[in-house]
Amino acid sequence: MTIIEELKRALGPEAVLTGSEIGERYVSDASLTGRVAPMAVIRPRSVDAVSAALSICNAHGQPVIPQGGMTGLAGGANPRGGEVAISLEQLAGVEEIDPAAATITLKAGTILETAQAAAADAGFLLPIDLGARGSCQIGGNLSTNAGGIRVIRHGVTRDNVLGLEVVLADGTVLSMLNKMTKNNTGYDLRQFFIGAEGTLGIITRAVLKLKPLPAARSTALVALESYEAVIAFLQKAQRELLALSAYEAMWQSFVRFSSKAEGIKLFEAEYPFLVIIEEDGDGSEVARERFEGFLGGALEEGLIVDALIAQSEKDARNFWTVREAVTMDRLLPSLVNLDVSMPSGEIGRFAEACEAELLSRFPGAHVSFYGHIGDSNLHIAFSLENASESDLHAVDEIVYALVQRFKGSISAEHGIGTLKRPYLGCSRSPEELEAMRRIKHTLDPKGILNPGKVI
Ligand code: FAD
Ligand code: MLT
Ligand code: ZN
Repeated sequence: MTIIEELKRALGPEAVLTGSEIGERYVSDASLTGRVAPMAVIRPRSVDAVSAALSICNAHGQPVIPQGGMTGLAGGANPRGGEVAISLEQLAGVEEIDPAAATITLKAGTILETAQAAAADAGFLLPIDLGARGSCQIGGNLSTNAGGIRVIRHGVTRDNVLGLEVVLADGTVLSMLNKMTKNNTGYDLRQFFIGAEGTLGIITRAVLKLKPLPAARSTALVALESYEAVIAFLQKAQRELLALSAYEAMWQSFVRFSSKAEGIKLFEAEYPFLVIIEEDGDGSEVARERFEGFLGGALEEGLIVDALIAQSEKDARNFWTVREAVTMDRLLPSLVNLDVSMPSGEIGRFAEACEAELLSRFPGAHVSFYGHIGDSNLHIAFSLENASESDLHAVDEIVYALVQRFKGSISAEHGIGTLKRPYLGCSRSPEELEAMRRIKHTLDPKGILNPGKVI
C-alpha cells in the first residue's frame, strides 16, 4: 500500500488532497516564495487524525509540513517538493472560555480574528493582535511566537500561553492544557514548541490568557523631527500613560509610499517620523483629558511637532491603514520584508546606514522603514524592479551584516523559515545551534517535521 493509500484509509479519502485538488493556498505563504506544490495535503478534523497521520508519515520517514493560515513571511510553511502538508484549517473552533481563570481554550486552526471576537463577546481581550488577524491561525501564531502591535502592553505570543497540546513526530500526543499561571513541575515543555515553526511537533490546541477588555482606546498620530525624539517620546509615554498599548513608528519614506497607495493624507506637511500611539482606558472624560494633556505636554517640550487625535473609529482606522500597508505587496515588485531587532536606541542609526548601503548598491530601489519601535523591532521594505535572485541575496547579505554590527537579531518576530536559515549564525552561536540540533534530534529523530526550516 502507498503512503497516500494508507493516509486515506486512516483519515478518510476526503481528508487527503492530491494532484489538481491541491490549490494555490498550499504552495506559498505571504512571502510568496513557494515554488512547488506538496505531494499531498491532509486536512485533519481531530487530534487523533493528526496523530494517525504523523505516525504513518514517521513510519515511512515521510517529510511533513505543518500549515496554518499561510500568512508567514519567512517561507516556513512552504513546501520544497515531495512533502505531505498537514493543514490545520479544519481543526478549528473555540472550545471554552473560562471567565474565572480568564482563559480561552481553542483548536490550533482557529483564525486569530475569530478567537479575538469570541473573547470580546465574553467581555475579554485576547491580547495577541497583528495585521494578518483575518487569515492567520492561533497554531501559526504560536509556532512563530508572533509579535504584533500589542506586544508593548501584553508581551509576545509566548507570554500569553498557559497550556498547549502538541502531537510529536511519531504521533504521540502531549496534552499540557494547563490553565494555571504557576506550575513548576519540571521542564516547561510548552516553550520548546512555541516559536519552533513546526520543526518539533504539531500544535493542535492551546489555552491562552485573556485580559480585561478595555472600554475605550485613545489613539493619536504624532509627527516628530528625529529618531532621538521618537525614543524620548516613547519614554515619556511609558512614564506618564497608565496603559500604553501601541507605539508604532513610520519613517518618512514609508509614509510617503503608503499614504499615497492607500489614498489617505494624514498631515498636510511631511515629517521625518510619524508615530501611532494608543492608550487603553475606561472611556471617561478624565482619561480623554489626561491623554490630551500628555500630548500637549509633549508638544510644549518640543518632543513632537504635530498631533492628530482620532475623534472616531474611522480616524483611528485611517492611521492604522497607512501603517498596515496591505497594498504594499501588490504595488511593490519583488518586495522583501526584513524584520530585525536591536537595542532601541540604535535603530535610527541602523536605518540610516541600511538605507545608504542598499541605495548605493541598488540606486532607484524602494527602501522604507517602519515597525514596533517600542519592542525594538524594525521592519525594512525593499523593492527593486526586475530584481534577480542574486540581487535579493545581496540585500540579505547587506542587511544581516549590518544587523550583526549593531548586535541585533535577524528575526524579531517573523521567524527563520527557509528565507533566513542561511543567516541564523549571524544571531546564534555555534554552541546554541548545536543545542538546537540536539533538541530537534531528540524530538524528531527521523527529521520528518518541516525539514530544511530553521536549522
Ligand atoms: P503559517 O504561515 O501557516 O505558518 C508559519 C509557521 O508555523 C510555519 O513554519 C508552519 O510550518 C508553522 N505552523 C503553522 N501552524 C502550525 C501548527 N499548528 N503546529 C506547528 N507548526 C505550525 N507577524 C508578526 O509576528 N507580527 C506582525 O505584526 C505581523 N504582521 C503581519 C501582517 C501581514 C499583513 C502579514 C501578511 C503577515 C504578518 N505577520 C506578522 C506574519 C504572520 O502573520 C505571522 O507569522 C503569523 O503568526 C503566521 O500565522 P499563520 O497561521 O499564517 O502561519
Ligand atoms: C507588520 O508589523 O506590519 C508586519 O510584521 C510586517 C510585514 O508585513 O512585513
Ligand atoms: Zn511586525
